[in-house]
Amino acid sequence: MSDIIIQVDNVHKSYLMGKEAVPALRGVSLDVLRGEMVCLMGPSGSGKTTLLNLLGGLDEPGRGHIIIDGQNIVALSEEKVAKLRLHRLGFIFQTFNLLSNFTAFENVEAPMVLSGSLKRKERKARVKTLLEQVGLVDRMDHYPSELSGGYCPRPG
Ligand SMILES: Nc1ncnc2c1ncn2[C@@H]1O[C@H](COP(=O)(O)OP(=O)(O)O)[C@@H](O)[C@H]1O
Ligand SMILES: [Mg+2]
Repeated sequence: MSDIIIQVDNVHKSYLMGKEAVPALRGVSLDVLRGEMVCLMGPSGSGKTTLLNLLGGLDEPGRGHIIIDGQNIVALSEEKVAKLRLHRLGFIFQTFNLLSNFTAFENVEAPMVLSGSLKRKERKARVKTLLEQVGLVDRMDHYPSELSGGYCPRPG
């Protein structure tokens, strides 16, 4: 098992603004080791969000390789990337991206239902534990619109 969990190799990404290509990443390479905690810093507009979107398979680079746990996600089908994201990646977004018709409980539960790794009873208990850990258990039946802004992005 390789100690490199994320490998970014000479990644380029441009956005098309009309006919003009706006370069966001020009040849980014980095390795992240298993268990390592990494903080990506840079001024606004330097490409942090672009890189994170690529690492999560939410967008595709123009050039380069992104290897996550041994798989080049640039070459994977959308379905395979979605599976990898479900099982191997977690995101806390700048904007909340909660499902507005789901309660806090159901929002935390949704990825667990999809991954199918826990039985119903264990899953419900796990959701409750997670909500307890972030002080949201009293709000578990509330919808995102009924939660204060600060509650919404708490990680599960
Ligand atoms: N959807 C987009 N369309 C066009 N240009 C974009 C888009 N998203 C980002 N950019 C441009 O790409 C560059 C990097 O942006 P971004 O990755 O959002 O930087 P950061 O997260 O570090 O602030 C900036 O020049 C930005 O204007
Ligand atoms: Mg950003």
